[in-house]
Amino acid sequence: KRPLRIAPSILSADFSNLGPEVKAVVDDGADWVHLDIMDGHFVPNITFGPPVVKALRPHTDAIFDCHLMIAPADPYIEAFAKAGCDIITVHQEAGPHLHRSLQTIRNLGKKAGVALNPATPVSTIEHVIDDLDLILIMTVNPGFGGQKFIPATLRKIEQANALIGDRPIDLEVDGGIAPDTVGAVTKAGANALVAGSAIFGKAENGSYRPPIEALRAG
Ligand code: DX5
Ligand code: ZN
Repeated sequence: KRPLRIAPSILSADFSNLGPEVKAVVDDGADWVHLDIMDGHFVPNITFGPPVVKALRPHTDAIFDCHLMIAPADPYIEAFAKAGCDIITVHQEAGPHLHRSLQTIRNLGKKAGVALNPATPVSTIEHVIDDLDLILIMTVNPGFGGQKFIPATLRKIEQANALIGDRPIDLEVDGGIAPDTVGAVTKAGANALVAGSAIFGKAENGSYRPPIEALRAG
């Protein structure tokens, strides 16, 4: 069974204090740090790029799980790899040459991920299943933190889990993940849980440990 990974999305962290936020959330029990890269084109919001990833890199040794919500993605993959991303996830919908994008990521020595928007079928990645290390099933429409989990995505998590079989591929979910939705997504097969508002919005006495533990227990 794939190990459970808690991946806080710093989209909901204090952007004026990102270095210490990243360190704190890892000290409080996070496995990965999820970095949401948005371009104002593929999604209707803008966040940050490689220089910010590079600036955060010295603050922790934890895995940087980089979710590229940008189109095209290919021209920027190398910059994100050099900035310190360990997992680089591109969207299936971001360009016509998914196989090439995945090859580019792996050739840079990084783990390659594919994200699927809620309307995109799992069948669209069948033919690249041996070219990837992570599948990200979006459980909201990408662009913003704090949205409501879309229940119809549960069926897609099950389908992706079946497609993965016994391959060493992580199955990640992103959007609306909180103690009340964790049970359903892990039962469907998800092992990597992205959470923004359910972690950064739920600190107790300045600690992220309670909300992280609540997700693990869910
Ligand atoms: C959505 C982003 C998510 C987001 C999750 O576009 O990809 O990572 O930050 O936020 P919550 O956990 O608040 O739904
Ligand atoms: Zn994300």
